[in-house]
Amino acid sequence: MTAPLIDPFQRAVTYLRVSVTDRCDFRCNYCMSENMTFLPKRDLLTLEELDTVSTAFIRLGVRKLRITGGEPLVRRNILSYFRATARHLESGALDELTLTTNGSQLHRFAPDLAALGVRRVNISLDTLDEEKFARITRWGRLAQVMRGIDAAQSAGLRVKINTVALKGLNEDELFTLTDWCASRDMDLTFIEVMPMGDMGEEDRLDQYWPLSDLRAQLATRYTLTDLPDRTGGPARYVRLEETSQRIGFITPLSHNFCESCNRVRLTCTGELYMCLGQEDRADLRPALRDRHTGPLEDAIRAAIRLKPKGHDFDYSRQEVAGQMPRHMSHTGG
Ligand code: GTP
Ligand code: 5AD
Ligand code: SF4
Repeated sequence: MTAPLIDPFQRAVTYLRVSVTDRCDFRCNYCMSENMTFLPKRDLLTLEELDTVSTAFIRLGVRKLRITGGEPLVRRNILSYFRATARHLESGALDELTLTTNGSQLHRFAPDLAALGVRRVNISLDTLDEEKFARITRWGRLAQVMRGIDAAQSAGLRVKINTVALKGLNEDELFTLTDWCASRDMDLTFIEVMPMGDMGEEDRLDQYWPLSDLRAQLATRYTLTDLPDRTGGPARYVRLEETSQRIGFITPLSHNFCESCNRVRLTCTGELYMCLGQEDRADLRPALRDRHTGPLEDAIRAAIRLKPKGHDFDYSRQEVAGQMPRHMSHTGG
C-alpha cells in the first residue's frame, strides 16, 4: 500500500485540480487581461502526459480530480483525456471526476461527459444580464452558456453555478440569481474576488464585495442554516429553509479556509502549484519525461513537502496585500 500524500502541516492531499489549457474563449476581467499571450502549444503537456501525472497522483491517494483551464473544453481532443481518466472511476481508485467550465462548449460535450462517469459540473456565471455578461467576459454570449446549462441538465449532470461576487456589478442580482438557481434545481456558490493577475487600471479592492455582507442580505429574506462540508472543496454551505436551496460561500479573503486545504494544482505545462495564492511550486516535467514511475512519484512527494500553510491575500488594509501577478487562468482557479 502506497503511503498517502501528507504535507508539512499534516493535511492529506486528496484533491488534484488539473489545468489542461491556459486558453479560454472568454476573457473575464478578473481572470485575464484583454490581450493575453497564450503559451505555444509545444509547451503544453500532451494528453498522455496529463494522464501519466494524474494516474501517479491517484496511486498516491488522490480521490478527486477536477479538470480546469483556462476553459478545459477548448483543449483539442480533451475527451480522450476524460476517457483515459474514467478508468480510475471504474476501478474504484477515484471517487470523482469533474470539471469547472464557463459552459460555452457544454452543449457539445455534456452527453459524452455524462457517459464517461462525470456526475456534476461547476459552471462559472456571474450575471443573468446579457449586457453585463458581455462586459465581464469581454465578448461572451450568455445564450451560449444557457444552452450549455440546458445540455448538462438534459444529460443528467448536476450543475453548480459559481458566481464571483462583484461590487457594483452583480450586487443587485443576488435574489435574481438565487431564485433562478432554485427554479432550475442548481446549487449556487459565491466567491470573493481574489487579487490576481496584472490589474492595469482595475483594482480588485474596488470590486470586492465581502460575502459576509452578501450573507447578511440573504438573511433578510431567508432563514439560513449552516451545513456540514460535503464536497471536500473550500465552499461552506448554508440551506435556505424556506426553499431548501443550498448556497455556498468561498471566502478566501474574509474567512480563510487554508487549515483544511486538501488540494494542489497541476498547470498545463506540468508545474505543480501548492497553493492558489502562493508561488511555491515544482516542475514535474523532468521526472515525467524520465519515463520511470519511481522518479515521478518521488518528485510529487518532494513537491508536497513545499506546501505552505496558506495564502496571504488581504484586503483589510487600503492597498491590496498579497497581490499575485499570476493570472487565475494559469492555475485554473
Ligand atoms: P466543489 O468540488 O464543488 O466543492 O468545487 P470547488 O470549489 O473545489 O471547485 P471550483 O472549481 O468550483 O472552485 C471555485 C473557486 O473557488 C475556484 O475557482 C477558486 O476561485 C476558489 N478556490 C478553490 N480552491 C481554492 C483554494 O484552495 N484556495 C483559494 N483561495 N480559492 C480556492
Ligand atoms: N477571484 C475569484 N474567482 C476567480 N475566478 C477567476 N478569477 C477569479 C478571481 N480573481 C473564478 C471563476 C471560475 C473559477 C474557475 O475561478 O469565476 O468560477
Ligand atoms: Fe475564461 Fe473562466 Fe477565466 Fe472567464 S474566469 S476568462 S471563463 S478561464
